[in-house]
Amino acid sequence: MRVFSTIGLLPMSLVLLLGSSTPVQANKTCGPSVPLPMRLVHQFSKPTYLQCLHIRANGDMLLGTVFPNASIYYLTGASTDNPTVSTIHTFAGIPSTDVINGVTGIVETEPDVFAFTGGIQQSLGLQRNGTWGVWQLDLRPTRNNNNNTNNNTSAPIIQELVHIPDSGLLSAVVALPKTPTVVLVADTSLGQVLRVDTVTRRWEVAVRDWASMHYPPWASLQFGVNGLALRGGYLYWTNSFVAALYRIRMTDDGYPAPGAVVEDVATVRSLFVDGLVFGPGERDTLWAATNADNRVLAIGEDGEYTTVAGAPDEMTMAGAVAPRFGTLPGDEHTLYVSTSGGVVLPVNGTEFEGGKVVAVDTRPFFHPNNECGGL
Ligand SMILES: *[C@@H]1O[C@H](CO)[C@@H](O)[C@H](O)[C@H]1NC(C)=O
Ligand SMILES: *[C@@H]1O[C@H](CO)[C@@H](O)[C@H](O)[C@H]1NC(C)=O
Ligand SMILES: *[C@@H]1O[C@H](CO)[C@@H](O)[C@H](O)[C@H]1NC(C)=O
Ligand SMILES: *[C@@H]1O[C@H](CO)[C@@H](O)[C@H](O)[C@H]1NC(C)=O
Ligand SMILES: *[C@@H]1O[C@H](CO)[C@@H](O)[C@H](O)[C@H]1NC(C)=O
Ligand SMILES: *[C@@H]1O[C@H](CO)[C@@H](O)[C@H](O)[C@H]1NC(C)=O
Ligand SMILES: *[C@@H]1O[C@H](CO)[C@@H](O)[C@H](O)[C@H]1NC(C)=O
Repeated sequence: MRVFSTIGLLPMSLVLLLGSSTPVQANKTCGPSVPLPMRLVHQFSKPTYLQCLHIRANGDMLLGTVFPNASIYYLTGASTDNPTVSTIHTFAGIPSTDVINGVTGIVETEPDVFAFTGGIQQSLGLQRNGTWGVWQLDLRPTRNNNNNTNNNTSAPIIQELVHIPDSGLLSAVVALPKTPTVVLVADTSLGQVLRVDTVTRRWEVAVRDWASMHYPPWASLQFGVNGLALRGGYLYWTNSFVAALYRIRMTDDGYPAPGAVVEDVATVRSLFVDGLVFGPGERDTLWAATNADNRVLAIGEDGEYTTVAGAPDEMTMAGAVAPRFGTLPGDEHTLYVSTSGGVVLPVNGTEFEGGKVVAVDTRPFFHPNNECGGL
């Protein structure tokens, strides 16, 4: 089956290592009750590697995939019992030489306008250099002067906005809070963060730091800086194979602040760390997905962390990639997580499923057992 030959990229030694990498954590006498309650929102067909999700202010989600093709999906009603999913667009699949086959990050830059990172992978996770860029998905209902009587059903406009020939695989995108048309993009292969202005279509290197952003010598794929998050004037990122998180103080314009240095945030015991997000709301808890060993972690300001969902030998969070918080009133405590279904590193070496979106209720995390004298 070609699926296996195209995705069997990680060396067997890693797979074997995984089997014995169940994290050993001392059992606390009190603390958050984990695993946190979970609910399946939607599962895609097998195989689908669901990579990115963006949650709009109205609660709707955009989802991007990197395998078996690059698709963008629109999911509504995530907080209800009847979510619906529609396909906005599908590009060609792997292998492809002329059309992008990976959509890795997506964010809203103006109302109904989205920036996403996309490019060609020679095989899953292995970029073709010079093919990556920042694209635009325009869903504005009245943007074009076509003949649709119902403007809302007119076709989305998709175009490559900024081609970045001197980059590797672009793995994530975040919008600057005060100027969302300017985005920061992780170039995971070259170990740098780019600043891309989606209006002027100019791009430049914003942050480059080998020690915290470049992939380490043992990495089986060129994944260094991977997930990105902006919070409190800092840019946070994961370095996937180092399994560490870092930050640097930034200006509102998306450049490192004068004199800013890279700071350690946390190092976790995992083969890999992928996407990350802060929340819920203004809480300074970091949530990170480990992807390769199927877990979601909550990381405190002190760098201490707890596994809150999933386990290396479970399907619950198989290939957890990107966590994002709900936006609707009453749903802000829900952490939505996109997964690959474990298609790269099957659970127990054999089990994988279609990628899915899982909703995690984070409330119990902040309400420890009574013996703690909890909140
Ligand atoms: C923690 O508790 C679980 C079950 O409650 C037990 O299986 C495990 O051995 C304990 N771990 C430690 C380090 O005590
Ligand atoms: C793209 O991949 C999805 C699975 O994620 C599949 O259902 C769909 O048929 C594929 N589309 C094309 C055009 O290959
Ligand atoms: C892409 O470029 C990087 C950095 O120069 C290099 O290490 C890598 O081998 C290149 N990848 C391919 C597939 O050519
Ligand atoms: C469609 O868009 C045009 C402007 O482009 C607007 O005048 C018209 O009212 C819209 N129609 C509907 C049904 O929203
Ligand atoms: C709209 O339809 C009319 C009549 O069918 C046609 O003449 C016109 O060119 C169309 N306009 C656009 C923008 O497609
Ligand atoms: C078009 O979309 C807007 C905003 O999503 C909605 O309020 C409006 O009812 C829609 N119109 C039609 C004709 O579907
Ligand atoms: C993986 O293997 C362990 C140990 O045999 C078992 O407990 C677990 O249920 C298996 N997981 C799956 C998804 O089959």
